[in-house]
Amino acid sequence: MQKCAICHSADYVAYQPPGLSLTQWTAEMKKMQRAYGAPIDDGEVEQLGAYLAVAYGSAKIKDPEIVAIAQKAGKPAPAAPAAASAPAAAADVQGLLARNACLSCHSVTQKVVGPAYHEVAARYQGDAQAQAKLEASIRGGSSGKWGSVPMPPFAGLKADEVKALAEYVRQQ
Ligand code: HEC
Ligand code: HEC
Repeated sequence: MQKCAICHSADYVAYQPPGLSLTQWTAEMKKMQRAYGAPIDDGEVEQLGAYLAVAYGSAKIKDPEIVAIAQKAGKPAPAAPAAASAPAAAADVQGLLARNACLSCHSVTQKVVGPAYHEVAARYQGDAQAQAKLEASIRGGSSGKWGSVPMPPFAGLKADEVKALAEYVRQQ
């Protein structure tokens, strides 16, 4: 939900023909990543493909290819040291912005799909509830405050991540 609902409802998955294979579901996720710019890495493409093929397609949980992907996913990725998932990640605002595609809809200085972060900071300056309001908008989505286009919710973010993002926006 966190990664897919940025662009469309998860119902898209259920509308696909039944019985798609692991290869077909993985190709579908690769298309989201490559053609449409979904913020998912190659490991996630593989894991999502496997999950969708078992839950909605022809693959079985005990298939050797699925077991291999699950085992790989269970291990920490070699390139990502454990520190990446530690609380220190909260400070990595640029990483959060990139991983959650915030910057495909926002820039600091100009309106893109969503308002410029500078505009947001200006509007909430002096509002004692600013931090709470912006955290709520990031976590739960926002609509009607800046125009007719809504912002999707980012319910998968941790509390400290939402807090760091809201603080960052307020400082722009
Ligand atoms: C950056 C935008 C974006 C993200 C993120 C994204 N998609 Fe899509 N997706 C699209 C677009 C664009 C289409 C095709 C156009 C349409 O029909 O709206 C699409 C279509 C689909 C389809 C229908 C089949 C097809 O090829 O048209 C499925 C299934 C799908 N997406 C699954 C997912 C899943 C699962 C995720 C999350 C892992 C995801 N998408 C994330 C943009 C995205
Ligand atoms: C698909 C496009 C899109 C993405 C991705 C997106 N936003 Fe937004 N954002 C919007 C739009 C559109 C609005 C204006 C919504 C409204 O009118 O209430 C908005 C509004 C906001 C606001 C102001 C909310 C308020 O209460 O006034 C903040 C803060 C914000 N976004 C931060 C973020 C952060 C942080 C991320 C990444 C985690 C993000 N956005 C990802 C489109 C997006």
